[in-house]
Amino acid sequence: MNEAPASPIGQPLDRVDGAAKVVGRATYAGDFAPQPASLCHAVLVQSTIANGRVVRMDTGAAEAMPGVLLVLTQRNAPALPQKGRAAVKPPAGREMSLLQDDAVRYNGEPIGVVVADTLEHALEGAARVRVSYAAGQPELDFERAKASAYPPKAGGTHGPADKSWGEGASAMDGAPVRLAATYTTPMVHHNPMEAHATVASWQGPKLTLWDSTQHVSGVKETVSKTLGISADDVHVISPYVGGGFGCKGSVWSHVVLAAMAARQVGRPVKLVLERPQMWGPVGGRPRTEQKVELGATREGKLIAVRHDVISHTSSFEDFVEPSAQPTQALYSYPNGATTQRLVKLNVGTPTFQRAPGESTGTFALECAMDELAYRLGIDPLELRLSNYAEAEPDSGKPWSSKKLRECYRQAAQRFGWSRRNPVPRSMCDGPWLVGWGMATATYPAHRAAANARATLMPDGTVLVLSGTQDIGTGTYTVMTQVAADALGLPVELVRFDLGDSTMPQAPGSGGSMTAASVGPAVRAACLALREKLGHERAWQEAKDAGAQRSALRAIAAGRPEPLAADGQDAPPANDKQPYATRSFGAVFAEVRVDPDLGVIRVPRIVATYSVGRLLNSKTGLSQLQGGLVWGVGMALMEESLLDPATGRFENANLAEYHVPVNADIGEIDVTVVDEDDTNFNSLGIRGIGEIGITGITGALANAVYHATGQRVRDLPITLDKALGIAENRNS
Ligand code: MOS
Repeated sequence: MNEAPASPIGQPLDRVDGAAKVVGRATYAGDFAPQPASLCHAVLVQSTIANGRVVRMDTGAAEAMPGVLLVLTQRNAPALPQKGRAAVKPPAGREMSLLQDDAVRYNGEPIGVVVADTLEHALEGAARVRVSYAAGQPELDFERAKASAYPPKAGGTHGPADKSWGEGASAMDGAPVRLAATYTTPMVHHNPMEAHATVASWQGPKLTLWDSTQHVSGVKETVSKTLGISADDVHVISPYVGGGFGCKGSVWSHVVLAAMAARQVGRPVKLVLERPQMWGPVGGRPRTEQKVELGATREGKLIAVRHDVISHTSSFEDFVEPSAQPTQALYSYPNGATTQRLVKLNVGTPTFQRAPGESTGTFALECAMDELAYRLGIDPLELRLSNYAEAEPDSGKPWSSKKLRECYRQAAQRFGWSRRNPVPRSMCDGPWLVGWGMATATYPAHRAAANARATLMPDGTVLVLSGTQDIGTGTYTVMTQVAADALGLPVELVRFDLGDSTMPQAPGSGGSMTAASVGPAVRAACLALREKLGHERAWQEAKDAGAQRSALRAIAAGRPEPLAADGQDAPPANDKQPYATRSFGAVFAEVRVDPDLGVIRVPRIVATYSVGRLLNSKTGLSQLQGGLVWGVGMALMEESLLDPATGRFENANLAEYHVPVNADIGEIDVTVVDEDDTNFNSLGIRGIGEIGITGITGALANAVYHATGQRVRDLPITLDKALGIAENRNS
């Protein structure tokens, strides 16, 4: 046998779907136009009050318009099983608005659908629907609603219930040094480049959905149960997704409404959300208020921690932003307690947004650690090192692999942390106040059962299938690398395909778990196929890709049935899990603040992560970098402004909802430590989709404090807050 070629795993392979995307051959949900009946267009009619009920809908003017085929409202919508509500358990299953009753629970709630031959006719038709309401008093005031905060019901929600370990929070009483502070994060919305989009087409009883989703098999299950049809009659296709970040992790009303409308008009229907509709009928990240208390010795040893989180949800469904989650795992505190409470507002249900819990939670905890470091006169990095968690604090389980110490060391050195003068306002450069801050990043490592199939094709290539998703993360590319490695073939001889509910089932692309779940299944399928090919000498002895391909083509030609193998991989049950698994990182940031105008620039971020092995150094580092960029937006810019009078979002567009542009981003230096977490899975990898947005907001807030002496505890850190002239809710 020849010398094995270098493994493609870890190589900076260009995206295998890159060319298709650049030339416009990559087909996103809204690009599909199924035949034979011509495609028509659907537009949502949305409520314009935040609470109450619809008394009358005058649809005559819309129905009389040229091109309008259907105005679907509560009056003519088909009755659905369980009124269409939460046919699948939350959080995957949503309480949707499917025209089953006259209730209005938030401003912007879908109360009708207009279908027309063109988008323009549908838009005009929707504008001509006249609605009268019986309006009730909406609750839109988080501060007031806090009085009725309640613990989320167990089971149906994402995130931790109340927890207590050691002697709980009472151990705080004996601590020589105590710090308590309250931090807040605002409502924000994902806004991937591609808005939510669905094309629905019926052929008799069979429904095909081209949907922009993070979970093809989840859409199939949810839609079939919601409509009361057989799962075998629903086919979901999603080859490309222009960003998910959590907002496409559940099925929202518009997906089912598109299917209902298509059935009613007997033609395929396309429904694409307009940009302003990204605020309201689909979820964003909830607002949080987080009280963190730390108890420590004078030498900086943590004795106890307490983290009490309040977040908002809708009036009709619980969604928890689990901000207390990182506090249960980040440092070694012998005693601790965390709580999560919800307040109901008349808004749409919020949802997962990149690193739910960890993004908001590490902001609060990592600022509190910085405040404690100043209180004690200890370097913030030293404080973290002296409270390093060698095992998971609340369970006591060992980590499957953790190289956070290496992260701190490497990133601090590259950043030049030892040259920092800790005194606020002490480091200047010309007119700029310079601030250096740091924080720890963390995100749990998840994986779930996944399946794959590898098939030797007549042309001598291998086709590998898994019903997973590529939400812009690089799944096509890294799975091609995993498959090629397991097969012992060059990547050119392997094709990986995904995004179809008829393929072997895979979990949703959420919780940073695609690579760690699907990778081992792809590997298993390819090893099994290789085993079947093993005895064929010609394939083994081929010298190069061309010869290998000819040999494989010859093997394929001699078979009546294609040679194929299935692979499956699943994590052990939770109680059989000997390890705790989590990823970590160290983030250092420099800010420059104009002392007169409060303008904040971020010239430099240095971050090093402990995330297991990287499958592709190019897409992997880019993924982490993207998380840091979003962290700059979360720290300094992003906020969805809820109008307290109407319950509408005042800045529901990308002109007034600010996100970083290239000019806002300075140098970002990202690395990972050498690591191979085979205690977690056969590939030694952990997910990297979300950790990049954790820690960074704390590092930036701590840097702003160092630069200005202003401790801003409320995101986003706008220039008025940096100057200390804004009303600071918690100062
Ligand atoms: Mo992620 S917010 O779990 O898609």
